[in-house]
Amino acid sequence: MSVKIEVKDVIKIYGDKPELALKMIREGHSKEEILKRIDQTVALQGVSFEVEEGETFVLMGLSGSGKSTMIRCINLLVKPTSGSVYVDGKRIDAMDRKQLREIRGEKIAMVFQHFALYPNRTVLDNAAFGLEIRGMPEDERYKRAEDALEKVGLLGWRDRFPTELSGGMKQRVGLARALAVDPEILLMDEPFSALDPLIRNEMQEELIALQNEMKKTIVFVTHDLDEGLRLGGRIAIMRDGRIEQIGDGRDIVTQPANEYVERFLDKVNRASVLRAEDVMTSPPEVLGDWETAWTAVKKMQRKDMDYIFVINKNNKLVGVLLLEDAIRLVDENEKNIKKMLKKPEVLEPSAPLAEASSKILNTGIGVAVVNEEKNLVGEVSWREIMEIIGGSR
Ligand SMILES: Nc1ncnc2c1ncn2[C@@H]1O[C@H](COP(=O)(O)OP(=O)(O)OP(=O)(O)O)[C@@H](O)[C@H]1O
Ligand SMILES: [Mg+2]
Repeated sequence: MSVKIEVKDVIKIYGDKPELALKMIREGHSKEEILKRIDQTVALQGVSFEVEEGETFVLMGLSGSGKSTMIRCINLLVKPTSGSVYVDGKRIDAMDRKQLREIRGEKIAMVFQHFALYPNRTVLDNAAFGLEIRGMPEDERYKRAEDALEKVGLLGWRDRFPTELSGGMKQRVGLARALAVDPEILLMDEPFSALDPLIRNEMQEELIALQNEMKKTIVFVTHDLDEGLRLGGRIAIMRDGRIEQIGDGRDIVTQPANEYVERFLDKVNRASVLRAEDVMTSPPEVLGDWETAWTAVKKMQRKDMDYIFVINKNNKLVGVLLLEDAIRLVDENEKNIKKMLKKPEVLEPSAPLAEASSKILNTGIGVAVVNEEKNLVGEVSWREIMEIIGGSR
């Protein structure tokens, strides 16, 4: 893997006294003070990160935290006040207009939240727009635009006009326009935020599928952590023009750096990120399948359990025995528990919790976590699962 984008200590001041504001930042004055005293907006105050080739990197944070400013520094739609941005090792903020035009037209493409399609152009001409301004002959640009429309499922609409399209379809045309130039880097600034939730989900899935095939370097801005987690790469959480934490979804969900990051987690579907091994605990007690119903009742009552996982002599999970069933066996004077065993739900340690079916909520039995050898390595209680799933509401 090689580094595709490197952002080094980027500061961005909006206003007419950037030097003065820079000086105040270096002297340790806060963003608020600088705004109050000299009326300059500090949008970024020292941001650094690297994006690997083929990675999907998410910038996420509240409104005003500097996400759009940051992503625009990557293709120099916004020029950093200080610091630098490298693409393929070349310093982009030091390039001249010609070099920039090349890099913007070929290497980097951008998709915005509200994709301004040209109303008097067909879908095909809209998708081919980036190639047209590069002066590509019609045949060739139409061929590439058609390929891109096919990728986003809109080839059948090539001769229609934007007014005939729904919001989701318009955004697909925007994506096709970016893909048509076959860029190495895709910059996406809240591309799905204006779409209604179902269409948004669909678009996220399509982007993930496309990305699995294309392996572009993507920088994706969102204010929705769920969306960021779904995309599956690393996430940088921004606040007031700084990065508070960078990590993959599991890092952020299991080890939030501070309260600001934690606040986003309240609304998040943690089940999609957490794995069984992250939350499993040891069962308080297990039963051997050679043991009697009476032993089972005693073991469960001692530890206040409603059920007990049952293993054989080789330590493999063979089933689960409910307390009520064990009591029935004792009443019937039946020692052998084997015919009363039920099949618990089972997950591998690395399986996402989301794979635990909601059925377990009705049975009240936890999920058994079982390794490749079918040994019981832990349990995720149904209460835990309810909490994690419930926490996302
Ligand atoms: N062109 C501009 N001129 C002056 N100030 C700006 C400009 N663009 C952004 N800002 C300010 O810079 C700060 C960061 O804005 P930015 O748009 O980067 O945030 P954001 O995280 O993208 O927010 P949102 O989620 O609302 O899109 C904000 O305080 C904003 O008001
Ligand atoms: Mg923005």
